[in-house]
Amino acid sequence: MSEWHKTLSGIWSKSWEALGDRSRNRLVNLATIGQDRTPQSRLVMLREASEEAAQLQILTDLTTVKVEEMRRTPDVAVLHWTPELDLQLRLNGTAHVTSGSALDELWARLPDEARQNYGVRPPPGTKIPASDAYERIPDPAQFAQITIQVQSLDVVKVGAAPHQRALFQRADGWAGGWRAP
Ligand SMILES: Cc1cc2nc3c(=O)[nH]c(=O)nc-3n(C[C@H](O)[C@H](O)[C@H](O)COP(=O)(O)O)c2cc1C
Repeated sequence: MSEWHKTLSGIWSKSWEALGDRSRNRLVNLATIGQDRTPQSRLVMLREASEEAAQLQILTDLTTVKVEEMRRTPDVAVLHWTPELDLQLRLNGTAHVTSGSALDELWARLPDEARQNYGVRPPPGTKIPASDAYERIPDPAQFAQITIQVQSLDVVKVGAAPHQRALFQRADGWAGGWRAP
């Protein structure tokens, strides 16, 4: 069945299915507004995607530069590509960073290997004298969750002609509308 891209509701559902599908591409490009307004982007792993709440969850180290950037300016852009569906998703949203005891339960469920990602010393981005001059000391105090409240979703379906593009916005209750690609 490949008729999903012919209706707005089909595109909306498929987009959230793609974002939440753990068997497909879970990497997204997360773009923030850096210091001096220089755009910054990096790959991160999408942990959760909720269609109902239109929210995304990402895990990170609290001491990364992106956290500082989002605390200063919470406006972010997320880019996702699903090769199997020829589907590009461009999301804009507002980021909120959570850390501390609110994440105790989540930390308890993390495998040891994953915990290694939260507790790099010196902090990520610090100048070091050699490539291996850093340590990984898992630290729940350095564990952070980024919640992105999605405000708009711009979808482009390529692969076969004619291409489709649709824009969905929180402001109009996600009704969505077609756009020229
Ligand atoms: C495949 C891949 C997956 C990554 N996943 C994450 C992630 O889930 N969370 C994260 O904070 N950084 C992740 N990173 C590292 C970031 O891309 C980035 O280098 C790091 O978070 C520091 O970014 P910043 O200095 O802009 O904050 C990943 C990198 C790669 C290459």
